[in-house]
Amino acid sequence: MRIFSGIQPTGRKHLGNFIGAIRQYVEGQDRGDAIYCIVDLHAITVAYDPADLRERLYDTAAVLLAAGLDPDRCILFRQSDVREHTDLCWLLAGVTAYGELRRMTQFKEKSAQQDFVSAGLFFYPVLQAADVLAYQTNEVPVGEDQKQHIELMRDIATRFNARFGETFAVPGHRIPEVGARIMDLQSPDKKMSTTGATDLGTVYVLEEPEAIRRKFKSAVTDSGKEIVRRPDKAGITNLIEIMSVARGLAPEAVEKEFADAPGYAGFKEAVGEAVAAFLAPVRERYAELRPNTPRLEETLARGAEKARDIASGTVALARSRMGIGPA
Ligand code: AMP
Ligand code: TRP
Repeated sequence: MRIFSGIQPTGRKHLGNFIGAIRQYVEGQDRGDAIYCIVDLHAITVAYDPADLRERLYDTAAVLLAAGLDPDRCILFRQSDVREHTDLCWLLAGVTAYGELRRMTQFKEKSAQQDFVSAGLFFYPVLQAADVLAYQTNEVPVGEDQKQHIELMRDIATRFNARFGETFAVPGHRIPEVGARIMDLQSPDKKMSTTGATDLGTVYVLEEPEAIRRKFKSAVTDSGKEIVRRPDKAGITNLIEIMSVARGLAPEAVEKEFADAPGYAGFKEAVGEAVAAFLAPVRERYAELRPNTPRLEETLARGAEKARDIASGTVALARSRMGIGPA
């Protein structure tokens, strides 16, 4: 079982990233051959600062290691260190339809936020397909928002295999049952993210426990009293899911535990407490790991070497199947 996922080196990682994706990366190490990539080449498709990109890349590497990725049990690397990704991206472009890319929701959303819409932003899902297909990936752990990109890469792989012969494994997504889409604490109809939402609605992985408690205390809910998951109770449903993950319980168990609660205030406080405790060890390990940049660099370099070994075989096969280069 080959598991692969990618994460952007931009922004501060939030509870949605942690619950939807990072938590699954850690667990993937026990289930298969796990490969994780920090996608700096995806990050340059929107406005950014070069010096800042490098720093955020180390931040992201340190968060992943602090969360429990172990370089002896997985491959962790920087996308741009393995040139095979961009090579394969161009090859795959030949079997990707313009109309498919135009339909991508993430492109529509992100391009609406940019003054300058780069061609790279439009091409983003092709590079993402190359990331995954280069490793003969079976499973891609991601949050719900990436489902469409995974479906596209399945179509690309299937189309390539049909036209040029069996070359790529066709990957499936792995979306967690609970927490696939963590919502903003202030606007529970929007997904939690670093862009667009209010700061009070986004909980960061590295945030101080006091700030985390404060954000949950002021979480927006409905005017009822019942602590149950229901479509008309987006805020409470979100808090139940977060509590379920933070405490390692089924959502039903959370509902049962708080069935007799007199109102929401105590529950919100309890969720804040649980999340602060859940994230505290990550924050502590991050503080130890982040200052040692040479060590992080060394870990990424070792990962890139192992990744290249795998990707180069697939890309050589794809080139040959397509009639590129000498026979
Ligand atoms: P990014 O930082 O944009 O590269 O996202 C990293 C991962 O976090 C991806 O797998 C996303 O699907 C996941 N993710 C982002 N936002 C959320 C959210 N609000 N809830 C659950 N998963 C999320
Ligand atoms: N597009 C993903 C995101 O925004 C990041 C990503 C890049 C990725 N390459 C990937 C995710 C490969 C899974 C597999 O979160």
